[in-house]
Amino acid sequence: MKVQLAIAIVTIALVGCNNSNSKTNIASNPYAQQVDSLLSLMTVEEKVGQLNLYAGSWEFTGPVPEDVNNQKKLENIKSGRVGAMLNVITADGTREAQKLAVENSRLGIPLIFGYDVIHGYKTMMPIPLGQAASWDAEVARSGAQVAAKEASASGINWTFAPMMDIARDARWGRMMESPGEDPYLASYMSKAWIKGFQGNDMSDAATIAACAKHFAAYGFVEAGRDYNTVDISLQTLYNVVLPPFKAASEAGVASFMNSFNEIGGVPANGSELLQRQLLKGAWEYQNGFVVSDWGSIGEMITHGYAADTLEAGYKALTAGSDMDMEAHIYENSIEELVSLGKISEDILNDAVRRILTVKFQLGLFDDPYLYCDVEREKSDLLTEENLEIARAAARKSIVLLKNENNLLPLSKEGQSIAVIGSLAADKDVPLGSWRAQANEGSAVSLLEGIEGAVSDKTNVSYSKGYTLTKGRRQFIYELDIVNGDQSGFKRAIDLAKKVDVVVLAMGEDCWQTGEGRSQTDIGLKGDQMDLMYELLKVNKNIVVTLMNGRSLAIPELDESIPAILEVWHLGSEAGNAIADVLFGDYNPSGKLPVSFPRHVGQCPIYYNHKNGGRPTTNPHDAGMVFWSHYTDSPNSPLYPFGYGLSYTTFEYSDLSLSSMEMSSNGEITASIKVKNTGKIAGQETVQLYIRDYVGSVTRPVKELKGFEKITLKSGEEKEIQFTINNETLSYYRADLSFGSEPGQFAVMIGGNSQKILTTDFRLVD
Ligand code: NOJ
Repeated sequence: MKVQLAIAIVTIALVGCNNSNSKTNIASNPYAQQVDSLLSLMTVEEKVGQLNLYAGSWEFTGPVPEDVNNQKKLENIKSGRVGAMLNVITADGTREAQKLAVENSRLGIPLIFGYDVIHGYKTMMPIPLGQAASWDAEVARSGAQVAAKEASASGINWTFAPMMDIARDARWGRMMESPGEDPYLASYMSKAWIKGFQGNDMSDAATIAACAKHFAAYGFVEAGRDYNTVDISLQTLYNVVLPPFKAASEAGVASFMNSFNEIGGVPANGSELLQRQLLKGAWEYQNGFVVSDWGSIGEMITHGYAADTLEAGYKALTAGSDMDMEAHIYENSIEELVSLGKISEDILNDAVRRILTVKFQLGLFDDPYLYCDVEREKSDLLTEENLEIARAAARKSIVLLKNENNLLPLSKEGQSIAVIGSLAADKDVPLGSWRAQANEGSAVSLLEGIEGAVSDKTNVSYSKGYTLTKGRRQFIYELDIVNGDQSGFKRAIDLAKKVDVVVLAMGEDCWQTGEGRSQTDIGLKGDQMDLMYELLKVNKNIVVTLMNGRSLAIPELDESIPAILEVWHLGSEAGNAIADVLFGDYNPSGKLPVSFPRHVGQCPIYYNHKNGGRPTTNPHDAGMVFWSHYTDSPNSPLYPFGYGLSYTTFEYSDLSLSSMEMSSNGEITASIKVKNTGKIAGQETVQLYIRDYVGSVTRPVKELKGFEKITLKSGEEKEIQFTINNETLSYYRADLSFGSEPGQFAVMIGGNSQKILTTDFRLVD
């Protein structure tokens, strides 16, 4: 069999090629010799083949090519001109495709199978933004582990996740995929996602290769419009955008995906700074590869950065983009460029080495069909255990935004409840955007969750009230929002009149967020707001559950609704998890990973902004306009980063430092007492922020530098300590060196980025 032949060739070659002049870091790449041996057998054509990532023609997650030439694709796979495929799924489907490659091509090199397994494969976890609201690495790790287990049972061995783009602008539809606005939290969650996908050993059949994306600054698109231009300073790039990617590199992520956008006039595919100098240079990323985004190497021509296919291929490969996803630029340019001497074989070899290394890490040379296990596919998907993990993750991702007069938790007995809003009965929306192979309509709806929790179902009634969308709802198509249909209002209002409490589901369809789904309006669309006002006229006891994939501008809700729960798109177990919180079986503990603006006009809005020269009005000038503000809105967000309430309350006191002075090679400890002053046990996320008052480059007003999740019984008090050292105070300066600068620093600790206790210390040389 061809596979055995390939393995035999590798083994023979190994013996003969021990002295190969490899640039690969042999010490850190256990497969370096095997990779180099195989490489020495490959023709230029076969090497270029490894750089091509083809989509299975039966599913597209990008613009559909006009001529889907399956026959040509097939021939290319058979002749070793394809290195990997995406959107080919199922154990049988991937086995078929794998067979084509390993049984027909000269060297029988196996394919990698990639797929967007973003927050689950069949069992859906909360969307990544929701998971980030848990501030809990275990939520991320266990969810990704389940996703890897399910996807790998269905033939997938590479996910295009985690996305770690910092998102400051809610107009951008992909905020739902992001870990939020803060680099520290984003790094923390991203490392856990990578761990969950890759485990300790990528050759384990239940783990898959991860992909850190989008490298870089994709979330900084101008005006929040997807695919738009990015123009940010190097300081923001280094201090805000890149930290999660650096953390991912250190965590051993198997691949990076670059991004559609340009930065400072250079499309990310062509960025030598990002890929050669930083990632593969300064960060010493050796054992993984960089894949382009869908067609993005070709888009360098549209950007106006390359004149034609040859130039696009040249610029992307020399800059460090190793694999071409569906642009077909490499297959039409690199051989020619090498034969013309324009691209050295060393550069080509570097890309191929990286891709082969990941194939070895995945165990594909030992068994190309490792991930094509029909039995596992039958037994490992949507299991009770996986759903239990999804429910736990969903509970922890919910954020309590408001709870006037302790309207929540509700009672399971004796309280009549009207559940209102089409989103409440919807079994599809909670699955979220980027839902891989989730079965349509398979989520537990909010209504089902509530009915399952109460002791007597007859106490629960439902009315649709509004209709949010009409027509097709699919990943690739625009969505139609219904406006002006109030035909369901009367029934809902009549119902609301009769009950003790209304649970009103509001928010976004999941197809309002995700790729290509930016909006200028980040309020609640359609007829929802009108219905809310009508309901308020007949019943003030309204709990709003907000299902959405971005931060929303909802000042009207904050003004008039007594209880608001942010429940995102929570995945397969959404309804059960929301019911757990509504009825107090789980005391909400989530904290916002993004600031919620009062108005879209505040976007981009983020807590770690600069002070500026005119941050406040001068008391002598009160009433004058000469300070940085809006004339029609406060500057502050509606709900700040890090914010989230509990059914109990916490009091912070006694912030102290072990010393008021720290030397650059020393450390100090910040301590604070946190007390549960309410009647029940609860979890609190204690957050540490630092401000560097004066720098050679201006510094943000505060930056998250640590946090700890604690559980306190009623009345219990704990002292929490954070260590502050030189690393905590360091940043990338004007010359891009990383270090701290002597001077005065603020230490701020609290339960969100605004409600904090503050003290100062001095850093001395
Ligand atoms: C385009 C998206 O930007 C990227 O995140 C995704 O992984 C690819 N398409 C593949 O579907």
